[in-house]
Amino acid sequence: MILIAALGNDRVIGSGDGMPWDVPEEYEHFLSLIEGQSVLMGRRSWEIFGGDLTSAHNIVISRSVRRLMGAKVAHSLGEAMELGRSYGKTLFCAGGAGVYAQALPHADAMYLSFIKGEFSGDAYFPQYDDADWIIDMRVDHPRFEYVVFRRQAAA
Ligand SMILES: NC(=O)c1ccc[n+]([C@@H]2O[C@H](COP(=O)([O-])OP(=O)(O)OC[C@H]3O[C@@H](n4cnc5c(N)ncnc54)[C@H](OP(=O)(O)O)[C@@H]3O)[C@@H](O)[C@H]2O)c1
Repeated sequence: MILIAALGNDRVIGSGDGMPWDVPEEYEHFLSLIEGQSVLMGRRSWEIFGGDLTSAHNIVISRSVRRLMGAKVAHSLGEAMELGRSYGKTLFCAGGAGVYAQALPHADAMYLSFIKGEFSGDAYFPQYDDADWIIDMRVDHPRFEYVVFRRQAAA
């Protein structure tokens, strides 16, 4: 599973019902990466971004919702990951904060966009240990830097 996220300074990812920045080219980049693949996300993120997704399969984790148009509902991260893997596509975890934190130990890779500038918010990407990850690719864009991390093989 791949965690895909856009991070500001101090790992901020969200502010209220949205992102703390307006960088449409980064959002387009996100939508191009998930196109035709499988995405799992928390119920709040689905309410914010669900309508935009270009993925072929969407899985929403919720304890409160039973059915959704355009997504399968799973009641735990484990159930969501099992369903996601059953589709045979690349499985992305697209947030939000609580779901990234639960999914981090299960991730093989992270596709992170580091947004340039200073932002404040109330939702954060979990702290990760740099020693666990190898940087596979780094691409600089005018308003963000895109970095691909692969999990370091266990010694
Ligand atoms: N920058 C980025 O790349 C990015 C990406 C995604 C989101 N965000 C930001 O993140 C924020 C939203 O994140 P959030 O943490 O508040 O919400 P979230 O993770 O999107 O959704 C939280 C909800 O997911 C469900 N959930 C979480 N863990 C569960 C579990 N183990 N079992 C069952 N259900 C579970 C619960 O839904 P129920 O309440 O229905 O039970 C919970 O209320 C927003 O600010 C958004 O803009 C940023």
